[in-house]
This record gives sequence, structure tokens and C-alpha cells, in this order.
Amino acid sequence: MKGVILAGGLGTRLYPLTYATNKHLLPVYDKPMVFYPIRTLVQAGITDILIVTGGPYAGHFLGVLRNGKQLGIRHLEYAFQEEEGGIAQALSLAEDFSDGGNLAVILGDNTTDADISEAVAGFRSGAMVFLRRVPDPERFGVPVFDPQDPRRIIAIEEKPAQPKSQFAVTGLYLYDHKVFDFIRSIKPSARGELEITDVNNRYIEIGELQWAELNGFWSDAGTFESLFRSSAYWAQKVTGRACEDFARYWTPGGAAD
Ligand code: DAU
Repeated sequence: MKGVILAGGLGTRLYPLTYATNKHLLPVYDKPMVFYPIRTLVQAGITDILIVTGGPYAGHFLGVLRNGKQLGIRHLEYAFQEEEGGIAQALSLAEDFSDGGNLAVILGDNTTDADISEAVAGFRSGAMVFLRRVPDPERFGVPVFDPQDPRRIIAIEEKPAQPKSQFAVTGLYLYDHKVFDFIRSIKPSARGELEITDVNNRYIEIGELQWAELNGFWSDAGTFESLFRSSAYWAQKVTGRACEDFARYWTPGGAAD
């Protein structure tokens, strides 16, 4: 399977940080944000990768990633998204790259230590989404489960004011080639974007959406709070020290006193 990382958009929620570079190159603890989705793909054996990006700092990716060999990528391609037309629009640029095969797609601001190898190895056709229980589902795409059959998703709602479950649809997806026809069939949402949630709802309509729960840490990093949370998690994981240890430096009685 080939992999696609969607890293376009202007990152306006992170102004002024994103005045100077692309959001996905900002640090999440000790690595640029985009290293995390790359690692998730490479660990699942996916080493043929397309990065879709855009905006004024698209060129910065080349300086950071070069040809990707140092990160375990065998073949790295880039595509340029002309405008911020949404996640599904960014994905449409991967049609030639996919060559009719299945794709693993990850949003460039999602970081996780979950292992998706098994899902990737077992995936044949249709689509698969990965769910994670979160305290703030209203920030995400949220699955609605069938009251008669709680294993079945009957719809996904994008950022609902009243979420019908406690799960977020994370920014990791597996798709077969039909995804590109579905993208062509959808219309821009109220926020003017081609929504990946509308694409996933098409798969639900034809009875071909599977799901799995993501095990491990998962967070986006596209807001100040989630960027900070991700950095704190990875700092803890890399150093083996608890968050309180870092806080000790500025709390009374800490190292700085
Ligand atoms: O993080 C998971 C969530 O991501 C899902 O639960 C939602 O269903 C999905 O719509 C998305 O929500 P966000 O509002 O957080 O997406 P955002 O606009 O922040 O875009 C996420 C990434 O997608 C961004 O880091 C880069 C890529 N992207 C986004 C847009 C709008 C593009 O490549 N091109 C774009 O035009």
C-alpha cells in the first residue's frame, strides 16, 4: 500500500507561529510535526509516500525531509495544493500517485504511537476509519452508531454541536480507488471545503466503511492546546520523565529555586 500525508492549509489557528513556516514543520517536542505521521506509515511498512502541501512555505519541506531516506522512506513525492480547498480536495491530488491501488492517508498534524500495521495488512477494499475516545468530540468528525447494532456506524457528523458519541474520527484513513470518484461527487461544505467526512459518508451509504479503535496515544496538533498536549506527551515518552518533572523547574521548590 502507498501512503499519503496531507499537509496543506495555512495553519491560521496557529498564527503567529505559522507566519514563518508551514504548520507541519513546527516542533512537537524534538521533531518536526510531519515526522510523526511519516513514522506511523513507515512502521506499518508503507515507504512509498506522497506529501500534499501548499501555501507560501511549501518549499521548506524539501529542506527538512530531503528525499526522506533518513526517515525510512523509499520513495518520496510532493504535490502542491493551490488553495485551501479542504482535506478531500488535497487528497484528490493523489489520484495519479495511487495508480488505482489502496492508500493509507494521514493528516499531517496527527501524532500517534498506535501501530496500524495489522489494519494495513488486512485491508482489501472499501474504507477504514480509526476511532479514539476523546473528551471533546465536538472538535472532530464524530461517528453515530446504530442503536440496534452498536458496532455499526450509520453516519459521521463533522464537528456536531451535540455529539452523538464520545469518539473522534481520527485523521488516519484507509481507502480503495473509489475514494476519487466519491471526492468528485461531493460539494463544498458551509466552510467552503471538500470534507473528508462527506467522503466517508459515501462509503457508509454503500455499506463499505469499516472501523477500528486506535490503541495508544493520539492527538492532533493544530491548535495551541493540542500542540502543547502532543509535545508534552512525546517529551514524556522520549525522556521517560513525567510532565511534573518539567514543571518542577518553575514551580516553588523546583530546580530553579
Ligand atoms: O484531526 C482529525 C480531524 O481532522 C477529523 O476528526 C475531522 O473529521 C477532519 O475534518 C479534520 O478536522 P480539522 O478541522 O481539525 O482539520 P484541519 O482543517 O485542521 O486540517 C487537518 C489537516 O488536513 C491539516 O493539518 C492539513 C490537511 N489539510 C487541510 C486543509 C483544510 C490539507 O492538506 N489541505 C486543506 O485544504
